[in-house]
Amino acid sequence: MAKRAKKRTTKKSSARRPRQAPKMLSDLFLDTLKDIYFAENKIIKTLPKMAKAANSKELTAAFNKHLRETQGQVKRLDQIFKMLGKPARGKTCEAINGITDEGAGIMKGFKNAPALDAGLLAAAQAVEHYEISRYGTLRTWAEELGMQDAARLLQATLDEEEATDHALTELATSVINLEAEQEHREAA
Ligand SMILES: [Fe+2]
Ligand SMILES: [Fe+2]
Repeated sequence: MAKRAKKRTTKKSSARRPRQAPKMLSDLFLDTLKDIYFAENKIIKTLPKMAKAANSKELTAAFNKHLRETQGQVKRLDQIFKMLGKPARGKTCEAINGITDEGAGIMKGFKNAPALDAGLLAAAQAVEHYEISRYGTLRTWAEELGMQDAARLLQATLDEEEATDHALTELATSVINLEAEQEHREAA
């Protein structure tokens, strides 16, 4: 009985609630900004662990360089939140949590193994591809919303993410070649 009474109250109160304004592209832009803000802050926590784990000095240096860039990218996002007059706040991004969890699994499962760097590179490139997708979308939406200054900031970050992806591709080729040589030698 008590349950039924409670249900009726909820129904009554929801009927009185004012109708929500239709969600616009600007709402989607803000939501996605919060998503990438969460992702970038997660990446700031993850990159030092990856830099420490890597076997190759070049890979450690690449992760550390991108850590510094990522700190700058968060500052750009802070500026965009300011332009919107909104507090800089992240919203849990399950995609980046999943990608970084996979990376953590590789660090654990391949600890000190010759194939570790290949796995770290693959995990890092998955992160970059996610970011490239998000920043490309956000840049386009900023243009559509007439936010040229925000679009320029987003493009600057997109350029850094793409440059990082290319640098990782080059490193992947050399790291994988070295490992393959080692495996051939050990097999011979
Ligand atoms: Fe980033
Ligand atoms: Fe990145």
